[in-house]
Amino acid sequence: MHDTYGEPEVVEIREVPTPVPVDDQVLVKVHAASVNRADLDWLLPKSQLFRVFTGVRAPRRKQLGLDVAGVIEAVGPTASRFKVGDAVFADMFWFGHGSFAEYVCAPERAFQLLPEGLSFEDAATLPHAALLAVQGMRPRHGRAVGPGSRVMIVGASGNVGPFAVQIAKHLGAEVTGVCRTEKMDFVRSLGADHAIDYTTTDYTNTGPYDWIIDVDAHRSILGFVKALRPNGVYMAMGGNRPWILSLPVLALTGWLIARGKRLGLMGGWRAFAPSDVADLKRFIAAGVIKPQIDQRFPLGQVREALRAVHEGRAKGKVVITV
Ligand SMILES: NC(=O)c1ccc[n+]([C@@H]2O[C@H](COP(=O)([O-])OP(=O)(O)OC[C@H]3O[C@@H](n4cnc5c(N)ncnc54)[C@H](OP(=O)(O)O)[C@@H]3O)[C@@H](O)[C@H]2O)c1
Repeated sequence: MHDTYGEPEVVEIREVPTPVPVDDQVLVKVHAASVNRADLDWLLPKSQLFRVFTGVRAPRRKQLGLDVAGVIEAVGPTASRFKVGDAVFADMFWFGHGSFAEYVCAPERAFQLLPEGLSFEDAATLPHAALLAVQGMRPRHGRAVGPGSRVMIVGASGNVGPFAVQIAKHLGAEVTGVCRTEKMDFVRSLGADHAIDYTTTDYTNTGPYDWIIDVDAHRSILGFVKALRPNGVYMAMGGNRPWILSLPVLALTGWLIARGKRLGLMGGWRAFAPSDVADLKRFIAAGVIKPQIDQRFPLGQVREALRAVHEGRAKGKVVITV
């Protein structure tokens, strides 16, 4: 929990009563959770404007954690989808966050059964990041990634990027992944045809591409206009502080000069939407998506887990085991 905004050190572990499920809620004993950039966005909002949602002076929501995998321990009186003992996973985004804990309690619609044969740790890497990748690779604006498409994933080495690389390869694309120097082998190991080091190379000069996913944008949208083929698509999922603040101006300018190219922030995100979870399960069953866990921390070291992601040290996911 955290009473103030700040670095991961402001997070504290507190004893609270175990929730009792009411109505259609279920109580889930957490086995594993995982860290996302979005957790840090709530701990350390990138822009003061974001605090309109998270709380202006202090965080409105004190608990942290989106991804969760665990076992149903109790069900509320009107809950009917699950029984005690079922293994489930969820993205707690719309359900109060709080997966960095021993228990989560939420309406049963928050949860889905765990993919067949997957461990709790692997399942906990999926809800937020893999779903973003699934949605980011979906056809848009009448355009789609397919065999022969040239795809660039900027930010191929963190939470969302590895899943996006794997899906793009499955769709038959020639994939370029952008990351820091020491993660290039990791990005190639995911199946990327090319890895580009953003510390030495201007990746906006390496096009043209049909589809660019920019996981956490650090460069102006305008730089990507030249990196796209006619009818190409550039989608940022989020961005650093200057990028977020410049977005309205850049989006308008980009739209004026892009001529048929589509550039902007990825819209239409649906957290843990059941139809996307069904696609995700098919990808898992077919071996298209393989969770990439770099580091594991016990719940007592939640600050260290957050810091590993905050500092960009992880190759893939950081898991919290409970
Ligand atoms: N659009 C929506 O509706 C929506 C919904 C939910 C979340 N989101 C957003 O989705 C994003 C998910 O991010 P994530 O969890 O995957 O983040 P992450 O794990 O922190 O990954 C960030 C990636 O960016 C790369 N990177 C860092 N500095 C860079 C630079 N200067 N140039 C190029 N690449 C650089 C990192 O590479 P290295 O690690 O190799 O340094 C890493 O691969 C967040 O921005 C979140 O806010 C969007």
